[in-house]
Amino acid sequence: MATILGIESSCDETAAAVVRDGREVLSSVVHSQIAEHAVYGGVVPEIAGRSHLEKILPVIDGALEQAGLDFDGLDAIAVTQRPGLIGSLLVGLSTAKALAFTRGLPLVGVHHIEAHVYAATMEAQEDPYPCIALVVSGGHTTLYRALSPLEIVPLATTLDDAAGEAFDKVAWLLGLSYPGGPSVSALAAKGNREAVRFPRYRAKDGSIGFSFSGLKTAVLYHLRGGDALAATPAPEDIEAPADVAASFEEAVVDTLTDQTLRAAREAGLSRVIVSGGVACNRRLRDLMHERAAHDDIRVHFPSPAYCTDNAVMIAGLGNELLLAGRVLDWSADALAR
Ligand code: KG4
Ligand code: ZN
Repeated sequence: MATILGIESSCDETAAAVVRDGREVLSSVVHSQIAEHAVYGGVVPEIAGRSHLEKILPVIDGALEQAGLDFDGLDAIAVTQRPGLIGSLLVGLSTAKALAFTRGLPLVGVHHIEAHVYAATMEAQEDPYPCIALVVSGGHTTLYRALSPLEIVPLATTLDDAAGEAFDKVAWLLGLSYPGGPSVSALAAKGNREAVRFPRYRAKDGSIGFSFSGLKTAVLYHLRGGDALAATPAPEDIEAPADVAASFEEAVVDTLTDQTLRAAREAGLSRVIVSGGVACNRRLRDLMHERAAHDDIRVHFPSPAYCTDNAVMIAGLGNELLLAGRVLDWSADALAR
């Protein structure tokens, strides 16, 4: 039995959670900085670092209080060590080190992306390994072959933008709020996803992979009426914006689903995990389940609260690291990559 405090601060969420044995969630607190970054249309690293510094101790206190525990009730502290914004990671790691050192607790350093994969296994009714894992967020769109929680090998990634980034940019073109994923998909629900046939990326050599910059440009040219050199219309002058949102969303979701299921078939694996912020997307969930059923592939998505950045997944994977004896020493550093 291990009760672990998880701490996450790699990007724009300050989060802490207490999890028992990698599965039983005793508490979860997330402070989102979205409002602080929204006016800039994206995450500003300096603002993120400062906000983490202000919020990290209240968020940790909140998680302990919600769990009804103090530090004596903990067996270890797990913290996101990589990858992420370096200034933000350092706030979490330094705090975790100070708390672990002064309380005599072991400290484990978690890989944020591996934790996103682990999130999808925490609520699963079956052992999902071995599987293909797609981590799709504002910063990542990568496929992995996952043999166990700590054996995760990258297979293919995006050549340019992450899928979440494409949602954010198209939201900006359509005059929708940041972050773009939720606002584009809310508008898409009112549109016709077959209205515009936007391009789906396929590598020339047939290999598995992603690219979203061509799609983003296709949306831009569509809005300019096919004239690449025309001015981009103001959001209020865009014709049938819901159809554009729905057709764009369909192109992203079609590509993610197609490449992920191809990876599973080629690897001969019958299970798939999808995680990261974009995994909240309703259409992605529906299409992935629908197509996977055809191939007898089972798909696991975490609940939406565990798709976006959270500390439950950090404490969860931290439990595996602790069991494997992979404890950090006090000189351990944060790594941006
Ligand atoms: O995992 P996450 O919270 O942060 C990282 O990027 O690590 O993911 C945030 C991303 C944003 O780009 C946001 O637009 C996207 O996830 N997102 C969505 C949806 N909800 C959040 N994208 C598509 N559909 C959604 N419903
Ligand atoms: Zn993330």
